[in-house]
Amino acid sequence: MTALTATPSWQALAAHHARIKDIHLRKLFADDPGRAERFSIEGGGLFLDYSKNRITDETVRLLLQLAEERGVAKRRDAMFAGEKINTTERRAVLHVALRAPRGTHIVVDGADVVPEIHKVLQAMVDFAMRLRSGAFIGHTGRRIRNVVNIGIGGSYLGPEMAYRALRPFSDRSMTFRFVSNVDGADFSEATWDLDATETLFIVSSKTFTTLETMTNAATARAWLVQKLGPDAAVAKHFAAVSTNIPAAITFGIDPANIFGFWDWVGGRYSMDSAIGLSTMIAVGADNFRDMLAGFHAMDEHFRTAPAAFNLPLLLGLLTIWYTNFFGTQTIGILPYAAHLARFPAYLQQLQMESNGKHIDLDGCVLDYQSGPIVWGEPGTDGQHSFYQLLHQGTRLVPCDMIGFCRPLSQQVAQHDLLMANLFAQAEALAFGKTADELRVEGCSDHQTPFRVTEGNRPTNMILAEALNPATLGSLVALYEHSVFTQGAIWAIDSFDQWGVELGKVLANRIIPELNRDAEPVLAHDASTNALIRRYRKQRA
Ligand code: F6P
Repeated sequence: MTALTATPSWQALAAHHARIKDIHLRKLFADDPGRAERFSIEGGGLFLDYSKNRITDETVRLLLQLAEERGVAKRRDAMFAGEKINTTERRAVLHVALRAPRGTHIVVDGADVVPEIHKVLQAMVDFAMRLRSGAFIGHTGRRIRNVVNIGIGGSYLGPEMAYRALRPFSDRSMTFRFVSNVDGADFSEATWDLDATETLFIVSSKTFTTLETMTNAATARAWLVQKLGPDAAVAKHFAAVSTNIPAAITFGIDPANIFGFWDWVGGRYSMDSAIGLSTMIAVGADNFRDMLAGFHAMDEHFRTAPAAFNLPLLLGLLTIWYTNFFGTQTIGILPYAAHLARFPAYLQQLQMESNGKHIDLDGCVLDYQSGPIVWGEPGTDGQHSFYQLLHQGTRLVPCDMIGFCRPLSQQVAQHDLLMANLFAQAEALAFGKTADELRVEGCSDHQTPFRVTEGNRPTNMILAEALNPATLGSLVALYEHSVFTQGAIWAIDSFDQWGVELGKVLANRIIPELNRDAEPVLAHDASTNALIRRYRKQRA
């Protein structure tokens, strides 16, 4: 038994779970008229109704006790103070510093990092303003109208998600594209209709060594040189965002167009660093600052709100409740906002790369489950594909549902339809429909069993007044800190990602085996050898 499973609160939660696991949400609501109000909280511009979870006051009390026993607040304070809580990489974890207001002091290795952050932010503002105003011109003297972000993982998902989310706030006269996949089709599709004289590539890579990004950056340079001629054009059509500034300079990028960040910003926590350069060019400096303010508001809420009213803490603890006590495997992220189409994919990296770990901070194998599988699609689309399983499947799938009270489009009446569906789905998932109710409605005996919807399927409902830069920042920070809470309970390093390394090493070994003209000597397993041979034959 590990430290976690031996804690009094863990043991108490296990016993408590055995007692309440079969109680239906119908009963919990019927017995407790104050439940919805009591299990609803607000913070950082967001509202969370977590009453449709399979919990009681005792569950919440025990989960909060677990957080206390596991020292979540202490670890949170260590993060905010710049301590090196990413122990496997010996790094501080300071994405919260990226949105700290000027004048705040956060010291890493003896130096206050906040002035440096604001210096880079100001350089981004100047660059974005020159681009948006047309003052920044390309090699042939034309203004830049197309921005292509080249990056992958955290250097892609955040920028693309934020661009899509904030499109109504963006400069619609400009085109923004995102290239991530090493599949050349991604680059071709993103650039086929772009005029090179009006195009800027932003190479976004924390390390500036990532295979996909470096390959696509080289393809972009070749594309540009082929269309504009001399290599000199590169300086006018490329910018870079990286912690590895020498590598960006070696690539040929004008140092004036290079924006730095720091090793204490994890890739999946970097959309509010210079990695957000494309976001700032799209929506302008003021909107970007509003987004940072939204992040900061949630940071402050997480740092200071009492545990029982702390949104990220509770959200994280509810994930523990389902993952470790109900044994659920996944979490559905269901934003009722077309603009948040890429939000589930963004959260996938945030959650799964952070908490997909099987070793604890002491190097011991976990004897409990850690990070769940995260997936999702916007409502109402999902209702017409996978919701059937959510309502009547054999698995329990907790879902986070996200909605906004004011529409971003002019179709106000349609927004009522959207929100009606959001509320209805949460209601149906929680309360379902019984055989008796169906019979009263005249359902035939034959059809009744097929139409019964059991209910008792838990959801969190997250609402904000409107989707805007500030609420987007707040929403992302909510999940960042929920992920942090889970990692602190599980005692894992949520800020490394060693698991992605092996595949990269093996790919580098296989690349020359595919390229070489002469038949290579293959020393993989029989399956991999056969696949390589088959590929070489069919490609030819
Ligand atoms: O392969 C995983 C990863 O290291 C992510 O953590 C990161 O966001 C992504 O690759 C891209 O890395 P980079 O920004 O260094 O190109």
